[in-house]
Amino acid sequence: AKTVHEKWDISDQFAYPDCVRKLAVTINGHTPGPTIRAVQGDTVVVTVKNSLLTENVAIHWHGIRQIGTPWADGTEGVTQCPILPGDTFVYTFVVDRPGTYMYHAHYGMQRSAGLNGMIIVSVPPGAGPDVAEPFAYDGEHDVLLNDWWHKSTYEQAAGLAAVPIVWVGEPQSLLINGRGRFVNCSALGLASCNETHPECSTPVFAVVPGKTYRFRIGSMTSLSALNFEIEGHPMTVVETDGHYVKPFVVKNLNIYSGETYSVLITADQDPNRNYWLASNVVSRKPGTLTGTAVLAYYGGHSSPRDVPPTTPPTGPAWNDTTYRINQSIATVAHPAHVYAPPPSSDRTILLLNSQNRIDGRTKWAINNVSFTLPHTPYLVALKDRLQGTFDPRPPPETYNHTAYDVYGVQPNPNATSSNGLYRLAFGSVVDVVLQNANMLAPNNSETHPWHLHGHDFWVLGYGVGRFDPAVHPATYNLRDPILKNTVAVHPYGWTALRWRADNPGVWAFHCHIEAHFFMGMGIVFEEGIERVGKLPREIMGCGSSNGGHH
Ligand code: C2O
Ligand code: CU
Repeated sequence: AKTVHEKWDISDQFAYPDCVRKLAVTINGHTPGPTIRAVQGDTVVVTVKNSLLTENVAIHWHGIRQIGTPWADGTEGVTQCPILPGDTFVYTFVVDRPGTYMYHAHYGMQRSAGLNGMIIVSVPPGAGPDVAEPFAYDGEHDVLLNDWWHKSTYEQAAGLAAVPIVWVGEPQSLLINGRGRFVNCSALGLASCNETHPECSTPVFAVVPGKTYRFRIGSMTSLSALNFEIEGHPMTVVETDGHYVKPFVVKNLNIYSGETYSVLITADQDPNRNYWLASNVVSRKPGTLTGTAVLAYYGGHSSPRDVPPTTPPTGPAWNDTTYRINQSIATVAHPAHVYAPPPSSDRTILLLNSQNRIDGRTKWAINNVSFTLPHTPYLVALKDRLQGTFDPRPPPETYNHTAYDVYGVQPNPNATSSNGLYRLAFGSVVDVVLQNANMLAPNNSETHPWHLHGHDFWVLGYGVGRFDPAVHPATYNLRDPILKNTVAVHPYGWTALRWRADNPGVWAFHCHIEAHFFMGMGIVFEEGIERVGKLPREIMGCGSSNGGHH
């Protein structure tokens, strides 16, 4: 195994992702940032210099479990103090498993400002059957999907915290590898619009007729659930979140923020024309133009710059929840890569996802507790036994699940806020059931993509309506559940997960919609803190953690 070195300078730069000039938080001047490519077992060392003038930063390696390095998880307030302007922080971690992963800012709503990218961990040559990919392909393309707003993240955050709330609204554009097109750019006569700017030129993915391609697709959206399609080319799903999937074929792929997939396509269509790649909003009523790129055939009579002769695919009906649940259910482990879960759990935590109010502000809450981050990172507070840095009362294990009407508006939407955390017995098996519900407004329930740091979990089952602990566990898939790090909780539905608390550290678990996490939709788990090695002092320096300057 080798060491992969990255040197990153984080700065604000003008960018034109959708042809409209906007300040973006960039890595070495770019958004998205560079793709990190490594081989399983490699050590990745990223030296991050914060050259933002006034803003902190922290970078999370999404899908990397940080076994033995919980301080490198990059979660501000959970595993580290923020990196201050002018400071440099070095992240060192091992990529222990091949697959498709991502990275992004984990400070405030900074991810939405453009600080994100992909991590691709390939299989070492000569790898055994445990690791080797159970599929073959001739070439690879990487696709990072995103949504994009013209308002700054500060304006968005201030709106979310205002009374009454100023919602961020639907994105101005959908981006593919950081490029898109704002529908009204030239029509509005925007001075900031430059439709010939190279940063918003349409991405082109080249294919040779007859060859099979692996597309690695990741979603870093701040809000949108997406549906991704390659016109005329059915996709065989083979990997998700670093785990091999029992192959199944889809016309288009639903992908939620924080998820990654690999799909295979064969370039077997008419090679004398090009085809659209399209990303469309699902699960929320779309208000954004289809995000597009071009699949360009080589060797035919078309040029890579030829615009496909068709209109881009518009995806399935945005509100067809059943269509999306079916894909979720079809995603199970590849038969040769089944890691069976423990047959039972030691603890079940039932988590109601609800929209609430606190002092007139709109919040998201879990079991009526809206999450706030402490000023001292939990990892430091717990390991170094610092007192009084967070709420010592554990958050609730369940909600009033026998009486709660998940289809109705909560009669009393008031909630409390807390920075308490769940402490898991080291090595124990925990079940978490995420229960969705109606929002503050009637007849509305959203999709929430939940992401767990430090672990993959088995996805044991999905259901619609209220989860019944006496009935539904009997329906769990204990035979070949997929392991993932991000999973959808569908409208009015529940999703059941299981994992073993065997990775010493403190791990965030939250909705990957940037605005929802900002509004309190998350929790934190601690496990095996006494087994965590000596903390690097570089993660300290904020709150009660003094960085060793005794
Ligand atoms: Cu990709 Cu805590 O997030
Ligand atoms: Cu959410």
